[in-house]
Amino acid sequence: MNNPVRVNSWNSWDPLRRIIVGRAAGTMVQAPEPAVFRDWPQDGFPRGTYGPLPDDMVAAAEEQLDGFAALLRGRGIAVDRPEPLDFSRRTETPEWTQDTMFGCMPPRDVLLTVGSEILESTMSYRSRWFEYLCYRPLLESYFHADEAMRWEAAPKPRLTDASFHAGFWDEFEALGFDEQIQRVRANDLCLTEAEPLFDAADVCRMGKDLFVQLSLVTNRGGYRWIRQHFPEHRVHAVTFDNTHPLHIDATWVPLRPGLVLHCGERAADPEMLGYFKTNDWEVLEAAAPRRTRDDLPKLCFCSPWLAMNILSLDPNTVCVEESERDLAEQLSGRGFEVVPVPFWNVAPFGGGLHCATVDIERDGELQDYFP
Ligand code: NVA
Repeated sequence: MNNPVRVNSWNSWDPLRRIIVGRAAGTMVQAPEPAVFRDWPQDGFPRGTYGPLPDDMVAAAEEQLDGFAALLRGRGIAVDRPEPLDFSRRTETPEWTQDTMFGCMPPRDVLLTVGSEILESTMSYRSRWFEYLCYRPLLESYFHADEAMRWEAAPKPRLTDASFHAGFWDEFEALGFDEQIQRVRANDLCLTEAEPLFDAADVCRMGKDLFVQLSLVTNRGGYRWIRQHFPEHRVHAVTFDNTHPLHIDATWVPLRPGLVLHCGERAADPEMLGYFKTNDWEVLEAAAPRRTRDDLPKLCFCSPWLAMNILSLDPNTVCVEESERDLAEQLSGRGFEVVPVPFWNVAPFGGGLHCATVDIERDGELQDYFP
C-alpha cells in the first residue's frame, strides 16, 4: 500500500482515492445449495454439476480486472486486491457441508463501507460463507494503518435448512410475471426470516440515507439489522418490479447529488419515487443496454442491465463498460466524462465495474441529500 490508508466513504460519487478490485482466479460454478443452483446445459454445466470455470474464461476476466486496476492506478487511485482461497474445497460448519465455494468476486457483495466503517455482510449462500477470508488480509492491514477505521461484522449466519424455503425455485419459476412481482414486493422469496441475511450490494449509500433492497439474498431481518446498526442514518427498505432482485446496483445508481440512474424495466415503489421527487432529485431512465440476453457471455448469471453497473470516480467522471455506447452517450450528454472500460468478460464471475470493486476511501463527509 503506497498512500496512507484512510477508510472513508459515504456515497458512490465523491472523488475516489482507494478501492478494492476483485479477482477471478479459482472461481467455481457452485455446487447446488438451497439458495441457488446453476443450470447451463449448453455450456457444460447442467443443473447439479459444478466445477472450475474454464481457464480461458478466467484468464480473459483476469486480464480485464488487471486492466481496470491499472487504469484506476493511472488516475492516482490506490488499488488493493484480495487473496483467493482454494475455492474448489468442500466447506462445512457444524450444521452443513457444501461441495464448493464460489470465488473472490464480486467484493461489493461482501463488504459495505459507511464512513470510517467497513462492515462484513452476512451473505446468504453457503458457497459464499467463507468469502470474507479473501479480504481479511486487507482488512487487517487497514485496521493497523488507520487508527480511526471501524471494523465490524454482521452476525455470521447459520444457513441451516431453516433459512430457506424448501422447493422455492421450482415453485417460483413456474409462476407468471405478475405473481412473481407480487412475491418480490412482499419479499416472499427464497429466504425465510429465521435469521438476518443481507448482501452488501443490496445497500445503496447516499450519505445520511441508506436504501436496502429486499431481494433473493436480503431478507427483512437483514434490513432490520442494518437499520439498528446505523442509528444515525435513515435506512429504507425498497423493492422494484424485478422478478429476480439480486443487488441494487444495476437498478438504482446515484450519479451525483440530485441525479440517479434508474433501470426503467424495474419500476421503483411509489413511496421511494415520491421521496426522491419531493427532494428534487431527477430519476433518469438508463439507456437500454447494447447486449441482449442472447449475447451475454456464457455462464453469466447477470442480466444485460449489468451495463448500468458503473463506477463513479467523482461526481463528473464515470467508468462505463466500453461496448455500452448508448449509455456512455447518454451520460456524456449530461456532462459526465465517460471512461470506457472493457469488462464483459468479468460478467460470468458475478458482476460489472461497481460489483467488482469496494470503495475504501472517497473524499467528502457525511451529508444529508434529502433534508
Ligand atoms: N443481478 C443484477 C446485477 C447486479 C449488479 C442483474 O442481473 O441485473
